[in-house]
Amino acid sequence: MDWGMQNRLSRIIRPDGRTLMLAVDHGYFMGPTTGLEDLGATVRPLLPYGDSLMLTRGALRYYISPQIDTPIILRVSGGTSILSKELLHEGITVSMEDAIRLNVAAVAFSIMVGADFERDTLLGFTQVVDEAERYGIPTLAVTAVGKALTRDAKYLSLATRIAGELGARIVKTYYCENFERVASTSPVPVVIAGGKKVPEKDALQVAYNAIQAGASGVDMGRNIFQSEDPVAMIRAVRGIVHDNLTASEAYEMFQDLKAQNAAQAVPA
Ligand code: 5RP
Repeated sequence: MDWGMQNRLSRIIRPDGRTLMLAVDHGYFMGPTTGLEDLGATVRPLLPYGDSLMLTRGALRYYISPQIDTPIILRVSGGTSILSKELLHEGITVSMEDAIRLNVAAVAFSIMVGADFERDTLLGFTQVVDEAERYGIPTLAVTAVGKALTRDAKYLSLATRIAGELGARIVKTYYCENFERVASTSPVPVVIAGGKKVPEKDALQVAYNAIQAGASGVDMGRNIFQSEDPVAMIRAVRGIVHDNLTASEAYEMFQDLKAQNAAQAVPA
């Protein structure tokens, strides 16, 4: 693996083999979703606790200071919206030249295995892999977004393995029962999305279960930025990912930090 690829990957997946990706790329198909109305204001206090930031080029240019050290995972697929009948029938939306210009650490592309249009997304994905590899840039395959698919171990291990076989350097999927099968049959590191917002205690349990079952970390968005206290939540998730906290220890940490933040917010 060339030096550049290794350097980019090592900035995303830390020396402990784990990663906490903060995902705020939702706007490219969801618009100003709750919590991302002012994406910059939401992300700024969270940056110190994430290993990388996943977002679109428009969000990067408009909301994020170029002075940050956080590695960027650039969303380079799109072309549909929540109004579309073929949500996630995605194609390439960013040139590799622009990704290089933006000095990103990785690019992210959604594949939709099992959809009628799976071939389009898989071929688009491999085109991005070919271009990205030419410049030592890793590709994150995003699998199984969307409601239509059954997110069980059989499906998720199929989609995850296909992504790895086609050249992904990291795969994002979802947690499921028997996740061990998904992680153990992937040739590359696997991270899990948080999915729709659930109570913090439940989201932390899912993150813990996924790590225990072999995930290298999380690519979490809504369960952080839509939390009652996003900073407390990302710090608790970080406790699970990098400090081997249990779910209950992490939830206790969340509650303590939330109480501290609330106390500090009260005007003297
Ligand atoms: C949306 C994405 C998101 O990056 C991914 O789903 C993580 O976000 P969340 O934890 O909110 O699901 O790929 O298409």
